[in-house]
Amino acid sequence: MNTAFPRPLCLSADGPLRGRVRVPGDKSISHRALLFSALAVGESRVEGLLEGEDVLATAAALRAMGAQVARGEDGIWRIHGVGVGGLLQPQTALDMGNSGTSTRLLMGLVASHPITATFIGDASLSRRPMARVTEPLAQMGASFTTAPGERLPLTMRGLCPAIPIRYTLPVASAQVKSAVLLAGLNTPGLTRVIEPVPTRDHSERMLRGFGADVTVEESEHGRIISVRGEAELRPQAIVVPGDPSSAGFWMVAASIVPGSDVVIENVLMNPTRTGLVTALRMMGASIDELDRRAVGGEWVADLRVRHAALSAIDVPADLAPSMIDEYPILFVAAAFASGRTVARGAHELRVKESDRIAAMAAALSACGVGCEEYNDGLAIEGRGGDAIPGGATIATHLDHRIAMSMVVAGLHAARPIVIDDAAPIATSYPGFVDVAESLGARATWR
Ligand code: S3P
Repeated sequence: MNTAFPRPLCLSADGPLRGRVRVPGDKSISHRALLFSALAVGESRVEGLLEGEDVLATAAALRAMGAQVARGEDGIWRIHGVGVGGLLQPQTALDMGNSGTSTRLLMGLVASHPITATFIGDASLSRRPMARVTEPLAQMGASFTTAPGERLPLTMRGLCPAIPIRYTLPVASAQVKSAVLLAGLNTPGLTRVIEPVPTRDHSERMLRGFGADVTVEESEHGRIISVRGEAELRPQAIVVPGDPSSAGFWMVAASIVPGSDVVIENVLMNPTRTGLVTALRMMGASIDELDRRAVGGEWVADLRVRHAALSAIDVPADLAPSMIDEYPILFVAAAFASGRTVARGAHELRVKESDRIAAMAAALSACGVGCEEYNDGLAIEGRGGDAIPGGATIATHLDHRIAMSMVVAGLHAARPIVIDDAAPIATSYPGFVDVAESLGARATWR
């Protein structure tokens, strides 16, 4: 990502937001489509891949380890994989940019190959904890040299054959689960992950589609996901559904701007990802699911969202894994609700692309919205649907979701809300500003 030239941005709306939008491909599924295709022998095709910087970082790393990954003029990505166990030694450091998912999933892949790889990233990624991945992967035999605090830059050496483990996730993290399962693909025997709290299940669903022997059982300790190693993956044709995390910005924008009526097409409705829809409906949002259908083994729907009066809620903590990336935009919705919304049990927000609790508390307070910060969440004093005061420049801390959330807040603010840098939006949502304009918002680059 080019961080040399920050691009301050403000969005405003003179009237309702109206129209149809199609969000880009789901980020989690896009990463996995590339990773698993790179391990299959033969050509896989991926349609609707998210072409954001995070996913492109995964593509570049896979190329550096021997896979052919190319976009056709028809927009379809074609990947010729190297086969499980066939990754090559990368010749230079793998630049992960801003992407925690690329880093942690690729570390899993490297862990059971006899190669050495160095991972580097931007200032945000270099602050994020990697011990959650190095710990299980070290148990499987990989060795690591890291910056202090188990952070990037990090160099690792995989072990082949690696040692199969049975690992209980200490934090609810699909990235950690996936890293261990990916390492397990090239490990003899059964590698098992136990997740006490269910997290997004794209890895296990897609690996099955690629022909891996993956089983999922419910137990008293949680879900046990097992992968049989030395797997052979068959190339696939994958259609990536629209990203519910990206859709969340338009769900909230339409809910808070009076008179709005927006249809968001082709949104992934996997229940491990729809926590925001549940929370917004609890607040009184008007979200209708149209044309629910199966695409590429997942449920998708078009969501019609109309402006509605929102009421504060206590956000159930058990929704956290299914909306972990959506808290910043939920906090924006809460600023426009009547009453005090309280969200607790979301410690993980402290270690995302930024500390999202601190960043959103500072951002909303600067815009005249009362907030109380907890170690594991935030309480927001909603202003009852009127325009919030605004009139602030927001520090986005290289965090795409803080950036998009706060420009959405600016769509119903008495004075402009300017974000200090829109560049990080390209990590997950290239085209975001054009879509806002297509709905009737005005973008001002400062
Ligand atoms: C992701 C898992 C989540 C999420 C991230 C994408 C994934 O992270 O925040 O944006 O694709 O597996 P954690 O696993 O750290 O919760």
